[in-house]
Amino acid sequence: MTGTLTFLGIESSCDDTAAAVVRAADRSCILSSVVEGQVALHADFGGVVPEIAARAHAERLDICVEQALEQAGITLSDLDGIAVTSGPGLIGGVLSGVMCARGLAAATGLPLVGVNHLAGHALTPRLSDNTPYPYLMLLISGGHCQFLIVHGPEKFTRLGGSIDDAPGEAFDKTAKLLGLSQPGGPAVAGQAESGDPKRFSFPRPLLDRPGCDLSFSGLKTALLRERDRLVAAQGGLYAQDRADICAGFQAAVADVLAEKTRRALALFDRPSPVLAVAGGVASNTLIRTRLQAVAVEAGGTLIAPPLSLCTDNAAMIAHAGIEKFRAGSIDPADLVARPRWPLDPTANPLIGSGRKGAKA
Ligand code: KG4
Ligand code: ZN
Repeated sequence: MTGTLTFLGIESSCDDTAAAVVRAADRSCILSSVVEGQVALHADFGGVVPEIAARAHAERLDICVEQALEQAGITLSDLDGIAVTSGPGLIGGVLSGVMCARGLAAATGLPLVGVNHLAGHALTPRLSDNTPYPYLMLLISGGHCQFLIVHGPEKFTRLGGSIDDAPGEAFDKTAKLLGLSQPGGPAVAGQAESGDPKRFSFPRPLLDRPGCDLSFSGLKTALLRERDRLVAAQGGLYAQDRADICAGFQAAVADVLAEKTRRALALFDRPSPVLAVAGGVASNTLIRTRLQAVAVEAGGTLIAPPLSLCTDNAAMIAHAGIEKFRAGSIDPADLVARPRWPLDPTANPLIGSGRKGAKA
């Protein structure tokens, strides 16, 4: 379907309650985007507690939807459809969003489109930069880590992914081991600025193996060993030790991501390839610089959407819903929530599951 379409998007698959309105003609335009994080609710538990997350989503979703409509300056009657994350993720949270969207669709008669959360991330470069298909997407966040060739709104080839932790999870655990604040990414990156990345030689996991799969849990173990060795020898950590460990860790993650991206670009095998990134870790300056260099080396370009669109939000869900709807996809009124939903059903499932829910 062509012409202008205005969709409400709803996202609640992890620890952000979000609603947004996106209007699309030749390209998509964000009319509003409301995101309510739950960091404070989970702070005492060292991770996202699924039941607390689900309850908070259920309590706040209708308020976020109202705010999104108000900020967009429209009412429900101006909408052409409702898109909602219907998986993968923490099932209670996904269910809250799906039930909210089902209720709105039943009350208004609007079409309902269930969106894969990972597809929302993967299609973000089309929302931010109108990037044409196909492109290579590297999704790096606290819960996700995969390389995808994005062929269309519902067609993805997964080239590889993390077999254990996601990189953001590794940054967060590193911060925890060193007594730094959460989320760990910015804290570790800040420390690394005054650190020597060569003082400690941390492993570069899976570089010795072919392919694009990644692993970050061994890095964390190496870091723990180094920390304990220093504490045993000196009775604690000096500020410079902390900075050097952070710099060494960040350099190892950047090296691994750069080399695996080089391989993924070789498999993608297109002239002037577009490499796009999404996820909180994509805001890391060193990682961004290295990925940019790898893209240029392959004769291509790096697309890095603004951070507000790289992290969880509902604008990406509304946009992905519009693309699916245009391709003829509408879901029934009894749309179900899916805890697992691989984007590429032909790829081998990834082992392990991140702190923020199932890895698909
Ligand atoms: O995409 P995101 O907001 O949430 C999900 O995981 O879904 O990503 C958050 C992750 C956290 O693990 C955080 O530590 C990491 O992104 N992060 C960073 C940086 N900023 C955020 N990691 C490395 N360097 C950063 N500057
Ligand atoms: Zn996400």
